[in-house]
This record gives sequence, C-alpha cells and structure tokens, in this order.
Amino acid sequence: MAFSERIARLKSSLIREILAAAQRPEVMSFAGGLPAEPMLPKVEWAEMPASMGQYGMSEGEPALREAIAAEARALGIACEASQVLIVSGSQQTLDLASKLFIDPGTEVLLEAPTYLAALQAFQLFGADCITVPQEADGPELVALRQRLEQHKPAFAYLIPTFQNPSGVRYSEAKRQAVAALLDEFGVTLIEDEPYRELVFDEGRAAPIVSRLQKASWIYTGTVSKTLLPGLRVGFLIATPDLFPHLLRLKQSADLHTNRIGQWQALQWLGSEQYKAHLAELRDFYRVRRDAMQVALEEHFSDLADWNVPEGGLFFWLTLKDPLDTRTLLNPALEQNVAFMPGEPFFTHPEQHPGYLRLNFSHVAPERLGEGLRRLALVIRQAQAAKAA
Ligand SMILES: Cc1ncc(COP(=O)(O)O)c(C=O)c1O
Repeated sequence: MAFSERIARLKSSLIREILAAAQRPEVMSFAGGLPAEPMLPKVEWAEMPASMGQYGMSEGEPALREAIAAEARALGIACEASQVLIVSGSQQTLDLASKLFIDPGTEVLLEAPTYLAALQAFQLFGADCITVPQEADGPELVALRQRLEQHKPAFAYLIPTFQNPSGVRYSEAKRQAVAALLDEFGVTLIEDEPYRELVFDEGRAAPIVSRLQKASWIYTGTVSKTLLPGLRVGFLIATPDLFPHLLRLKQSADLHTNRIGQWQALQWLGSEQYKAHLAELRDFYRVRRDAMQVALEEHFSDLADWNVPEGGLFFWLTLKDPLDTRTLLNPALEQNVAFMPGEPFFTHPEQHPGYLRLNFSHVAPERLGEGLRRLALVIRQAQAAKAA
C-alpha cells in the first residue's frame, strides 16, 4: 500500500497500548493520566437546546470563547475572545500547530523529558526535536540559551505547570528568564497547561505567555483534567499573527469542535459550582498524592529518587540503578500492575534509561501500597538479574 511519506514516521503510542492492557479490573494502573472515576462530575443534559445538534462556528461557541478569554485575562494573559479557538481537546492544538509550523527537518525546541503525545505529533510531521534538560524548577537556562544560539526552532513547546511527565513547576525566576530568552531570539512559544488547576500546595505563577513582549505565542488548555476528558473540549489562545492560520487548519481538520461538549463545558466554566468542584478535586488528589508519597517511601526509598509534585497527576522516579524500564512492563503486568516507562518521553529513549512515571489519581489509596510493593519487587528482580 502506498501511504504518504509521513506515515513511515508515525509511531504507535506506548501509553495507548499500556492503557489497553490496564483495562482489566484487577490491574492496578499507575500508567494513565486519567481523572479518578469518583471525581467525574455528574452532568445534566436536560437543558441543552436542540440547536446544539446543528453545525456550529469553526471558532467555537461565542459564549465559551468569552468565558475562556476572561479566565485567561484573570491569569494575566492579555487577550480577547477573538483570539480563542475551541479545539477537540488540547491534543488538537498540537496537531494544528504541527501543521502550521513543521516540514520535514523543521527544528522545534522541547523539554527533556516532554509529553509523549506531543513528540508523536511533532515527529509525524518530521520535526527535528532539539531538547533542553529539565531541572527541579524548570529548564537549564545555560542549555536553553545555547540551543537558541545554535538553532532556529520554529517554536518552543513547554509545559511549565506540573509538567507531564516530570511534575516540575517552573519557578518564578525561570518563567521570567525563559520569556526573556524567547523574546530575545524571537521564538514562538506553545505553552501547554492542562494541569494548572490541579494545584495542591500554595503558590500560583503567571503563564509564560503573559510575560512575552515580542514573541508570538499559543497558549492551550483543556477541561479534560478538571471536568470530563470524554467531552473532548480544549482551547487555544493565539497571537493575532497566528490565529487566522490556526482557524483555517481547524476548519480543514473537523469544521468545529463538537457543540454538545462545548455546551456542557460552558455550564461549568466560571460558575460557583465549578469552583466548588475544583476545590473538591484538589482535596481529593492531595490525599492521593500524600498516600502515594507514604507508599513510595516505604517501597522505593532505596530504589529511586523523586520530588513530591505540588500539583498535576504524576510522580517521576529516577532509578538509582538505571535499567530500561520498558523491559519491566510485562513482568509488572503479570503482577497486575501497570506503570508508564520513562524512556518514551525522551526523543532518544535509549539514552535515558531508568525513569518511571507513576500516576497517583487513579488507584484507590487502600490498594496503592500493594501495587507499589509489587512494582518494587519487579524492579529488584530485574536489577538482580542484570547484576548476575
Ligand atoms: C501535557 C499534555 N498536553 C495535552 C494533553 C491532551 O489533553 P486533551 O485531553 O485536552 O487532548 C495531555 C493529556 O494528558 C497532556 O498531559
């Protein structure tokens, strides 16, 4: 079969395959980034006007665009509703941005590690991925400057708030420094913030796009982590030089985002009910984060290092004695435990063995300890076999 040349670059997403294996109810899954089932809010559809079944505008529902622009302004992002495009989940932002910017060989700048479905999208279009190592408070600035001096990336893609997979939240100083560097080198920023509202500890930092003076930007978010991922409603906000192109790409992709999901999202955004739901969500996940920390200390303290995430959905573990964690997947699944190996979050997986991403939102606290005990045992056995 003669497919397009880009299909040779289309990688299957390891996470989708693991999630399929983790469907069995007996599996304790630390693999996905799913909201906890009990925290999916009950939604009402009875009031939805029948007109929501009709075709809609490619930009999205006007009232929803207004609500999103108002929330973004409250975060410090200077923008109008006319800059907001409703998309089919923030994943679509990555697809549209890829189509806008990437030809085979186009350089893009990413954190290492970064969100693996972003890598999948950028690499499909043939991006040459330049990476900057991630530290506990954001990217290494010396490396970032060096990359910007040596390359001319079409954009930088960053996840500064509770990054997937590392859980890192950029410090105030790093946000400021990154914005200054992108301005200096005139590099467009794509800032992806699905986890901003899932914050468990004090402290809020304004998005990097709000600090840019010159560089173009796309800011993207979603209701997937706070409301319902099944709605497939996300948004992007773009500078006026980018917006018309993104809108046309959206039209050619799927005409518009489903209006039924948009209507539901609009019932929540900005409402008192939504604020209450977010507060409940944070309390619920904080308990799970803390339970995971206790269980990790019990079973992993001699095996790995990690930081306690201040928000988001993941712990990121660095094994003290690295090995390719992909080789642990099947033995772990045989013990009814699923996790996400760290290697696929890097552009050159083989150069970065020994990381695991563990989701803490999904497994109930009373099963957590048992799941981590089994996973630690699988790691110990693999390390013993390697040493033998
Ligand atoms: C960093 C990041 N970006 C984008 C997405 C996609 O989210 P959505 O469900 O809005 O497509 C995710 C989902 O896990 C994510 O972690």
